[in-house]
Amino acid sequence: MIPNHGMSRREHLRWWGAGATALAAGALAPPLAAGQEKQPPESPEVVADRARRMQWWHAAKFGMFIHWGLYSVYGHHEWAMEEEGIPVAEYELLAKQFKPQPNAARAWAKLAKQAGQKYMVMTTKHHEGFCNFDTKLTNYCAAKQGPGRDLVAEYVEAARAEGLRVGFYYSLMDWHHPDGARCATDEAARRRFVEYTHGLVRELMTNYGKIDVLWYDVDWPLDPKGWESEKMNAMVFKLQPDIIVNNRNGVPGDFSTPEQEIRASRSGRAWESCMTMNDSWGYQRADDNWKSAKTLVGNVIQCAQGGGNYLLNIGPKGDGSIPEESVERLTAVGRWMDKHGATIYETERSRVNDSVFAGFTRKGNTLYVQVANWPGSKVAVGGIKTKVTSAKLFTTGQKVELKQEKFRVQFVGLPEQAPEQPVSTIAVEFESEPVQDNEWTRRERPRRGVGV
Ligand code: GLC
Repeated sequence: MIPNHGMSRREHLRWWGAGATALAAGALAPPLAAGQEKQPPESPEVVADRARRMQWWHAAKFGMFIHWGLYSVYGHHEWAMEEEGIPVAEYELLAKQFKPQPNAARAWAKLAKQAGQKYMVMTTKHHEGFCNFDTKLTNYCAAKQGPGRDLVAEYVEAARAEGLRVGFYYSLMDWHHPDGARCATDEAARRRFVEYTHGLVRELMTNYGKIDVLWYDVDWPLDPKGWESEKMNAMVFKLQPDIIVNNRNGVPGDFSTPEQEIRASRSGRAWESCMTMNDSWGYQRADDNWKSAKTLVGNVIQCAQGGGNYLLNIGPKGDGSIPEESVERLTAVGRWMDKHGATIYETERSRVNDSVFAGFTRKGNTLYVQVANWPGSKVAVGGIKTKVTSAKLFTTGQKVELKQEKFRVQFVGLPEQAPEQPVSTIAVEFESEPVQDNEWTRRERPRRGVGV
């Protein structure tokens, strides 16, 4: 492909593949989503406390999302109940049929660890309203239905056994609870439903030891005032002083949650892209639109490049087993992470962002040029304004010759074929933090010919 500098940066970075729109820092970034990132000023104490709580999460970069519930038994995607208009009484039958094998979560946690994922986030209650945990507040829960036990407890134990951090997804929207919709128009229903919601969250924050992430979802049909979101978060932090929370209960929380796209925040606010591996979060037996391992590795890189995290989903079946296609892909990603993890974990946002065949991650003054479409014995990067001091192939340590000119750096004498699959890394040392500016190249590079 011949780079066309008139095209948008999104098109420009097409190699990252379906499902991921690439994003660089600075002027070409798309506008902010309404209300998403505007925050009132915070006190230095609040900022420092957030930095403390989020340290592990920023270093971790890569997590596993797990969508599991009654929809996994049905196998038509987690929105089936609404999209197929299934009556509540009919949908409830799935609760009796849900009979997962014991400790299914152990295989998820092992796979997550092998894939290089450092944390897990599992649905404790999705929009369908079924609680995967034991609760005093409803009988519509795993302990009192088909599973006959607390699936969240099993999950927590499994994640901890692999040394992974534990996250809880919780959907505020509820298609099952009698007050789940009328709470918007009936104040008594709102009070009951908010009490129920805060009560379930309280149980989750109380009964499972230390929880690392609370991942709210869909706040329909109330606004943050209606949900009493500030009060809910205050309770959460009281019970779990080290936890981090996302922004989907309508207040900013600790991080933003771009979905099915990679969109770095412009404000410097923490962000995490969540993404499916095919097109469904919950198990969808016929969905075969799987992303390649190359795309998934590219997405991990692309998130790290923008200073964010990547939360990649699996949708286990009703018995708890993971679709084979997901196992294969995560295993391949893990093979790459095994060798290249140091170029991902603990990296910081890169100010080199632009290439049609590579991504970039950074640690201090070291830039990892993550080459996905290996061009041959010469790899060049334009617009670099910082002095390069040395370069090597990351996995072998083999020294790489380089030539730096005003508008480009060329790495030469490289192997004709890509040394690694699906992405090969050149580790490049700079005199200071590497900076790229391709608009500078476009404007300033001496021109000649026509009209001279
Ligand atoms: C959306 C969907 C939901 C999914 C979530 C993950 O909000 O409604 O099904 O769980 O995204 O981010």
